Amino acid sequence: MSLRLQSFKEYQEAQRTAKNDPDGFWDGIASQFQWIKPHHQTRSGSLQGGDLKWFVGGRLNITVNALDRHAIERGNQSAIIWEPNDPNHLGQTLSYKELYERVCDMGAALRASGVQKGDRVILYMPMTPELAVSVLACARIGAIHSVVFAGFSAQALADRIQDAGATVVITANEGRRGLKIVPLKSTVDEALEHCPTVQLVIVQRVTDSSCAMQVTRDVWFSEFLNRGTGLPCPAEPMDAEDPLFILYTSGSTGKPKGVVHTHGGYMVYTAYSFANVFQYERGDVYWCTADIGWITGHSYIIYGPLLNGATTMMFEGIPTYPGPDRFWAICAKHKVNQFYTAPTAIRALMCHGEAPVQAHDLSTLKVLGTVGEPINEEAWHWYHDIVGQQKCPIVDTWWQTETGGIMLSGLGSLSPQKPAHAGLPLPGIDPVLLNPDGTELQGDDVEGLLCISAPWPSIIRTTYGDHERCLNTYFRPYPGYYFTGDGARRDADGLIRVIGRVDDVINVSGHRFGTAEIESAINEASIAVESAVVGFDHPIKGQAIHAFVISESALDEAQKQVAIGDVLEAVEKGIGKIAKPARVQFVQGLPKTRSGKIMRRILRKIASGEFDQFGDTSTLLDPSVVDSIKIDAQTTWFTAP
Ligand code: WT7
Repeated sequence: MSLRLQSFKEYQEAQRTAKNDPDGFWDGIASQFQWIKPHHQTRSGSLQGGDLKWFVGGRLNITVNALDRHAIERGNQSAIIWEPNDPNHLGQTLSYKELYERVCDMGAALRASGVQKGDRVILYMPMTPELAVSVLACARIGAIHSVVFAGFSAQALADRIQDAGATVVITANEGRRGLKIVPLKSTVDEALEHCPTVQLVIVQRVTDSSCAMQVTRDVWFSEFLNRGTGLPCPAEPMDAEDPLFILYTSGSTGKPKGVVHTHGGYMVYTAYSFANVFQYERGDVYWCTADIGWITGHSYIIYGPLLNGATTMMFEGIPTYPGPDRFWAICAKHKVNQFYTAPTAIRALMCHGEAPVQAHDLSTLKVLGTVGEPINEEAWHWYHDIVGQQKCPIVDTWWQTETGGIMLSGLGSLSPQKPAHAGLPLPGIDPVLLNPDGTELQGDDVEGLLCISAPWPSIIRTTYGDHERCLNTYFRPYPGYYFTGDGARRDADGLIRVIGRVDDVINVSGHRFGTAEIESAINEASIAVESAVVGFDHPIKGQAIHAFVISESALDEAQKQVAIGDVLEAVEKGIGKIAKPARVQFVQGLPKTRSGKIMRRILRKIASGEFDQFGDTSTLLDPSVVDSIKIDAQTTWFTAP
């Protein structure tokens, strides 16, 4: 398989081909995979209609391409290297043959338990090989996996289980993160009190602690596997457009939505983008530090690398345990060649200085990647100079859960690079910048709304159970374009820098939260009458959350302390610790327009310490509210430790 472009000239040629003959371009890539039946039409539908289908009529199973092919051709090569939380524990390396066998065992056991094509399976797990095996086992039998990040609360988990109508949950008794133990099974138990559809809970034993098991519902992972013993596990023939997974992500309104990706298009695009962005060469060891609970883990720990027959690392722990050199110790130990992480992790590790990096031999590194949020220049230079010793290109990869794969990025060292710029699109991807009125900004040195003007194979197909919402969010705001929700700038050389969200989405440490979902969690606190949250710049997290809360009655200092605790607890309960506001400020009113809409723009200014020039406030119902919030803001907000 040769998906990889090897020079900037080849990149430019591919871009031209993709523009002039998009169907031919994507067909050429698709033809490098194993299909049970080839497609008869490359693409149907349009961005206008939000009804895109790719490789129409094609039949395949993504796991045949990710596993079987390599198990036959290079069975003994390492597929997954697993590094445990505790460096003194034994790690694991699974060859392609072993991974294939374990996926088939799990798939057979799921089938033997009655799990069928199209059923939804929730995975709420720590970063263990069993998680990767479970993801692939679902795909193999055509069940739709939905991984829920193990930091979400019981309530958030229940919301997702219910929305997906899942019948099976796979979890662990506990997870390990540094010195912390995460009680996963008890959280699942709590969630399932509200989820009658779930009939089966499979529990991996990660720690020695016991946990409650319901005999008719719960089974240990190791015992569960016996159900498939001796049974073959042929891959389920899937239509190219059959759903592969649902992954929940936050939007500006309402509850998180289930982004749906499919077998065919997602396979083609994740494999293609992985090969090119990371310039992966046979035998390299590639490591992405994301959690599989996010899209980055789906596309670039599991599917993209395995589709390319790569060796992909999985890390159970955290960057600072047992010390702030853990990432670099792992890179040296496994001779990592491509390393992919988030700006927030880089900034956090930067605080520990250069010594932890210099303590390890990082000479095997060839490409460094970042993802999840804009990277600031200081962090970019530290990554480039200290970690990469000025020898590794940095690929600043811009994409989204909804795009399925990387859209804007350098390709290893082939492309021009500029600090804090994602740069150029991958061939086949057509980014444009729009004015708010929907007209395209021409030329360079311009700033606008980032949209994509041509379809690509791994574009979001729908939001599970609510296609209208998908159309309203991505396809209707600017007809004929996919709307990203991001603002971006194209510099004088045509390189793109993504600036950040233009909607009510807050990006904390590379994790997306909608203002509406946080506010509705806060409003569950009995003290809170109403609330509004905004993001403000944070030196490590990128952004952090400032919550303005109207309390039931005026609070004295002591009552305020209790009330703050209640607000934080409500967010932890409704979403999870990761969404906790860094600041809580009690206010008497919120700046609302006559039609009842909160003017978040004003709150954003106050949260960033700007107390004047609020622009036009004439539509506010009660402009005096702003003054009282300002006065409070200077004296009385709470800042989390
Ligand atoms: C949002 C998508 C895609 C994997 C992780 C996050 C922001 C992502 C970059 C980047 C600037 C970035 C955008 C985007 N974002 N990568 N390289 N530069 N911003 O996935 O949770 O779907 O979030 O993350 O705002 O819209 P996600």
